[in-house]
Amino acid sequence: MNPFSTRLCAAVLLAAAIFPAVAAEPSAAAPKLRAVKAAFLIDGLADKPIANAVVLIEGDRIVAAGSGLAIPAGAEVIDLGNATLLPGFIDCHTHITGNPGDYYQSLVRNSAIDDAVRTHVYAERTLLAGFTTIRNLGAGDFVDVALKRAIDDGMARGPRIVPAAHAIGATGGHGDFTGGSPYLRIDGFSGVADGVEAVRLKVREQVKYGAEVIKMVATAGVLSEEDSVGAPQYTQEEMNALVDEAHRWDRKVAAHAHGAEGIKMAVRAGVDSIEHGSLLDDEGIRLMKARGTYLVSDIYDDDYILAEYARLNYPQKILDKERIVGRVQRENFRKAVQAGVKIAYGTDAGVYPHGDNGKQFAKHVEWGQTPMQAIKAATSSAADLLGRSKDVGSVSAGHYADLVAVSGNPLANIAILEAPAFVMKGGVVYKQDGKPVAIAP
Ligand code: ARG
Repeated sequence: MNPFSTRLCAAVLLAAAIFPAVAAEPSAAAPKLRAVKAAFLIDGLADKPIANAVVLIEGDRIVAAGSGLAIPAGAEVIDLGNATLLPGFIDCHTHITGNPGDYYQSLVRNSAIDDAVRTHVYAERTLLAGFTTIRNLGAGDFVDVALKRAIDDGMARGPRIVPAAHAIGATGGHGDFTGGSPYLRIDGFSGVADGVEAVRLKVREQVKYGAEVIKMVATAGVLSEEDSVGAPQYTQEEMNALVDEAHRWDRKVAAHAHGAEGIKMAVRAGVDSIEHGSLLDDEGIRLMKARGTYLVSDIYDDDYILAEYARLNYPQKILDKERIVGRVQRENFRKAVQAGVKIAYGTDAGVYPHGDNGKQFAKHVEWGQTPMQAIKAATSSAADLLGRSKDVGSVSAGHYADLVAVSGNPLANIAILEAPAFVMKGGVVYKQDGKPVAIAP
């Protein structure tokens, strides 16, 4: 017997001791059939809403959706009247473990332990805002992985989570702590890695501890103290190695990239999405189109940062960096939309308060998308970027029963998506008539 199977055996024995066999219970009653009715459905795929919408749900999945479907006798009916139903929204870029706060407090007093205690609150706010799935692009000490498990186990309320664990980046870069004394050390797990071998190892560690997507810090950033906003922070070889390693483990790669050169390097390395994309140039747009790389651009953030971050004691150099990228990021988003670059919805929530995730919809429309394109960015396109199109992102048979409803027509007024009246995730209603529904854990 090799040592591995010995250990496996021990694990099985241990498991048997902890979970003694119980007499098989009679199987639970077949999951009940439910029907959600609403005046309109935007299913995330079709270009037009359908009227007289009926969505039939069994357990946590949709069994059928369409116009005027017959509702089987005995089905429980949730009638949402004049509302418009949509797929639960997907935010492809969150930091669910943190909320905006005082700069120095967050840096030196706050720890991943504080984050771990609070993050379930942010998760619930996100869910109640209609975001039933999030891709979390960076968190300390595997807190996002732990949160995901707690939600999946029914111990906390929140969206489905695709966690990245630590963002992987270079020493002195956007993912590192810079600007402090060389004697100051911040303990804990870290995503800092330099050189191709270290970068590969860092990918493997994230995967080992639960990352379902890999976040690469390809360039300098705004909310960190390095001078540049957008200079490349990895060599082409490091980026290539990181993406190669992640894809080998079947993990997609999201690249934080503001600067034109770093964006192109990341796209050439084969990343699946460019995050921010602020200084994207024409060649970058051509490359992204040719390779099918998604743009996930947090074009609401600038409003919040300029309004609040001086009060939160952010250093002047950071506020100056925000002024360099804020407007041009939006202009380049418009160029990318017009050129036909694939767009997915991602907000960087955590930079601004969780629960406000829907505020970016109006920005997508203001900066070049039609309302229907903006909705698809947060539903079917986002699901495609996540590689989860079979499960989320549209209201269709076989998908999770993740639904939101708004009163009114979001194609006429996109801003109504900011506060859905109804939220269902996996067949469970979390919000109805605009109010949270109490659910026993
Ligand atoms: N996490 C990003 C960074 O620090 C936030 C950028 C926010 N600003 C913006 N204009 N999108 O780089």
